[in-house]
Amino acid sequence: MTYNDTFIRACRKQDTEHVPVWYMRQAGRYDPEYRKIKEKYSLLEICKQPDLAAEISMMPVRKLGVDAAILYSDIMNPVASIGVKFDIVKDIGPVIENPIRTAADVDRLKPIDVEGDLSHILETIAILDKELDVPLITFAGAPFTIASYLIEGRPSKSYIRTKALMYNEPRVWEKLMDKLGDMVITYLRSHVRSGGKAFQLFDSWVGTLAPRDFETYVLPTISRIFAELSDLDVPKIYFPGVSSGELLPTLTNLQADVIGLDWRVSLTEGRRRIGEKFAVQGNLDPYLLTAPMDILKERAKELIDEGLQKPGYIFNLGHGLYPEASLDKLRELTEYIHEYSQSVIKE
Ligand code: CP3
Repeated sequence: MTYNDTFIRACRKQDTEHVPVWYMRQAGRYDPEYRKIKEKYSLLEICKQPDLAAEISMMPVRKLGVDAAILYSDIMNPVASIGVKFDIVKDIGPVIENPIRTAADVDRLKPIDVEGDLSHILETIAILDKELDVPLITFAGAPFTIASYLIEGRPSKSYIRTKALMYNEPRVWEKLMDKLGDMVITYLRSHVRSGGKAFQLFDSWVGTLAPRDFETYVLPTISRIFAELSDLDVPKIYFPGVSSGELLPTLTNLQADVIGLDWRVSLTEGRRRIGEKFAVQGNLDPYLLTAPMDILKERAKELIDEGLQKPGYIFNLGHGLYPEASLDKLRELTEYIHEYSQSVIKE
């Protein structure tokens, strides 16, 4: 079995034979086999069974032919180790038992103990490192996105409590960002030590902020995370989430290798905003998967033509796959991305 390192090479802006592809949230939900497992176990129960979690991470590699695997886990998992009780509730998402809203709540957060509390996650990574013939991407939720769950107590549309804390209690906010930043740094470092080959920092909801507020209240912690992890010899991806186009010009000095783009900004415009240093990943609207296959292929072709104009392009969606996506369409799309991009690169 030969190891397919196309994804890693594209992250480093090196030559590849085809454009590598993986899909955010590819582990699971659109797959009937996964849904069957979910009838028996919750997400958190699966994460505590490393063999099963590893198996689910490998399913999209086998079934779709993607060029990277992503760890089956959730961005909320590490907060269990800093003293936050939560559950993932069906049809809602993460729900926090006692939301974090005061200075005392923030003071109570403990340092993360990955080996002590989250050894099952490291074990899953170690199994995958042995089994996979493509790179394993591990991930963490970024401090703003994690904070939005901790403060609101559940998914939110307005982030009103999060923003209220940020604007009214800047010291408390800063302390929370510091503590979550430390959590992310320790957590991601342990992933790489256990065999992770790249990582992505998911900042799914930070696009709700005005650029100047992002720069003041959030970017210093993001910059610190990538700076403190810069000694790790693995590609590092920052995904600033949905509606993040206006934030892109603030990212130019980040010590990351790849920036994930959403579909509201073109690859060309995204590259212009972040500068020459980065590879880009994205950015098909996930709901384009509802379109007929010929339209889907036409749009994929356009993205590949645009992506290949500069070194460093990884095909992905602009946000995560939704549960109703079709496995067959995803398989056909993946094949098409490989074939078409290979033919363009050969020319
Ligand atoms: O990519 C993958 O499939 C790997 C696993 C993964 C999960 N969550 C498993 C999961 C990843 C990378 C995540 C990241 C995650 N989790 C993000 C960032 C990505 C994004 O979508 O922006 C966020 C914001 C969360 C928080 C979260 N977890 C929400 C909002 C929900 C409920 C809604 C949803 O997306 O299903 C979850 C639950 C969750 N995490 C599920 C899975 C497979 C579905 C519920 C379940 O199966 O119990």
